Amino acid sequence: MPNAPEATPKIKAVSGNACKLAALKRTFPVKTFDVIVTSPPYWQRRDYKHADQLGQEKTPADFVEVLANTVDSWSEFLAPHGSVFINLADTHNDGVLVGTPILFELAMRQRGWQVAHRLVWSKPSSVPTPSPRRLASRHETVLQLVPPKKKGNPDYYFDRFALQEKKPLAEIGDVWHVSPSSGTTGHIAPFPAELAQRILLLACPERVCTKCGQAHLRIVGPSATLDSNRKQAVRAMELFEEHNLTEDHLAAIRAVGISDAGMGKKLQKGAGRNSARVQALADEAKEALGGYFREFTFAPKEHVGWQACACEAPTRAGWALDPFAGSNTTLLAAQELGFNAIGVDLKPHKL
Ligand SMILES: C[S@@+](CC[C@H](N)C(=O)[O-])C[C@H]1O[C@@H](n2cnc3c(N)ncnc32)[C@H](O)[C@@H]1O
Repeated sequence: MPNAPEATPKIKAVSGNACKLAALKRTFPVKTFDVIVTSPPYWQRRDYKHADQLGQEKTPADFVEVLANTVDSWSEFLAPHGSVFINLADTHNDGVLVGTPILFELAMRQRGWQVAHRLVWSKPSSVPTPSPRRLASRHETVLQLVPPKKKGNPDYYFDRFALQEKKPLAEIGDVWHVSPSSGTTGHIAPFPAELAQRILLLACPERVCTKCGQAHLRIVGPSATLDSNRKQAVRAMELFEEHNLTEDHLAAIRAVGISDAGMGKKLQKGAGRNSARVQALADEAKEALGGYFREFTFAPKEHVGWQACACEAPTRAGWALDPFAGSNTTLLAAQELGFNAIGVDLKPHKL
């Protein structure tokens, strides 16, 4: 079994142009990144006073064209299981929205990219708007984009279990209520650390093979221990012990499910040999547990192992890239979670 990745994550902030990442290739410690997480300048919002800056294009269409070409060019730096998370907000012009997040999404689709998630970052507070004809803007878009599929490539890496385990209070839906100031580092247009952390937990692999570059996939299974905060679950476990039920009973309960016509019967159909035995064990357990039987059918999930490649080589923690790194929020979030990260910015902040 390959070893767990090294404990000390590496992070580095470099100076460069996100629209011309190829020029930085030699400074990167890895050929490809496992995930790209970034928040580029929005159209006509802030002037970063640099000749190469993005965001000051004359029209929204020009901005979208440059940004879409830029993100498209990043596919070269993505591992086959990699994806891009990009945070964008719209801009008002002459009292109406110009639609940059929608236009950008369309432009990426036209370039063959797929949209795995369109998250809404909902902000509980915001700067009040001076216009009486406008509501305060309280949300931004975060897209998860997957590059055009190459034959034989695995699916994009996604680990919902990691998010649920490390941040049990985080929403598992696609609307994230995160305060703009939660863990920010003083940049004029910051990205909250909480947002970066959630994204990294979901999409940056914990283990990547150092030989073939494949991400190991987490295997989760139902936990044998029920949630001790639930009274019904505690009683269910007591009854389980009192009646000397066994692991085989547990497996039968879970195979059969709540109804007697559950998955178990379907799965066992044809095998013949086990079907009657599984059903008999489930019936026995049902007799002993009564209504508490169902507690075992929706048991919490737990990590049971990793689906690894065949290399049996050591693994490393995932590498993230933020091409518009600003105050290095993504890098610091990666470091805290044990991932490695590189940040690029025209004016990089010191780490
Ligand atoms: C919205 S801020 C990023 C904020 C960052 N996520 C944080 O939490 O601090 C956008 C950043 O992009 C940088 N930038 C603008 N144009 C760039 C370009 N062409 N290449 C690299 N960085 C650029 C700006 O200097 C700015 O720091």
